[in-house]
Amino acid sequence: MEIIIRPTSESAAMLTARLIADALRKKPGITLGLATGRTMEKLYAMLGEMHKNEGLDFSLCKTFNLDEYVGLKPTDPNSYRSYMNKHLFSHVNIDIRNTHLPNGYAGDLAFECAEYEKEIVECGGIDIQLLGIGRSGHIGFNEPLSSLASRTRAKALSPTTFAQNSPLFENPNDMPKFALTMGVGTILEAKRILMLVTGEEKAEILAKSVEGPVTAMVSGSALQLHPHCTVIVDEDAGKFLTEKPYYRWIFDNEPEWDAYRTL
Ligand code: GLP
Repeated sequence: MEIIIRPTSESAAMLTARLIADALRKKPGITLGLATGRTMEKLYAMLGEMHKNEGLDFSLCKTFNLDEYVGLKPTDPNSYRSYMNKHLFSHVNIDIRNTHLPNGYAGDLAFECAEYEKEIVECGGIDIQLLGIGRSGHIGFNEPLSSLASRTRAKALSPTTFAQNSPLFENPNDMPKFALTMGVGTILEAKRILMLVTGEEKAEILAKSVEGPVTAMVSGSALQLHPHCTVIVDEDAGKFLTEKPYYRWIFDNEPEWDAYRTL
């Protein structure tokens, strides 16, 4: 795992956007794993700008989102399908048929989840998985106690997640109590993982995830098991990290990061 600390949420998002753009230029048919949440809005806006101003080409790219609420139609304004259309897909030249989210409105949710896993495999697996983290420590919607070997499935949302996400609904009580989510095991199969974490309210859970013990109580801690995971944070989110000088030293000295230090 590498931890990169940037001065602001803006520069953390820009570095993440640049990594994705560079990977897309290198492999135009890349399969991206995508995340939702407020943290990602800035990053998606940056990718939209790169498409507009630099001709960043999404036409061959395939995407799989981490999760979706159970019981919301894809057209519901609060669905993650709507979120993705609004924040990314409508701003770039992606072929909408190449974009995948689990369908939380499917009649047979177990079948839907098994098909989702199959489609990921048929696309050759996920090249880069983008992640945020919830205050409960979840990646995707893998709430505390999610097995570190779990696959895509329906999951009950925790009170912490309800408190975090329900204000986004016009009537907070309309937030579904369940979601379909890639499992921790599914996420760990991505070839590369980029996690973006910003803001002081994530500082404690971030430190637990990257410096604490690996535990099903904090699914973000499972990232310690991944061979190529880069965690990009701003100073606020990095507040409680204990080995900051070491992380900064690596970022300042590894040739891999030469092109990214000034972002
Ligand atoms: C949501 C999503 C996660 C996301 C997290 C953080 O509930 N399921 O994939 O990373 O919560 O959201 P935010 O960026 O709004 O803090």
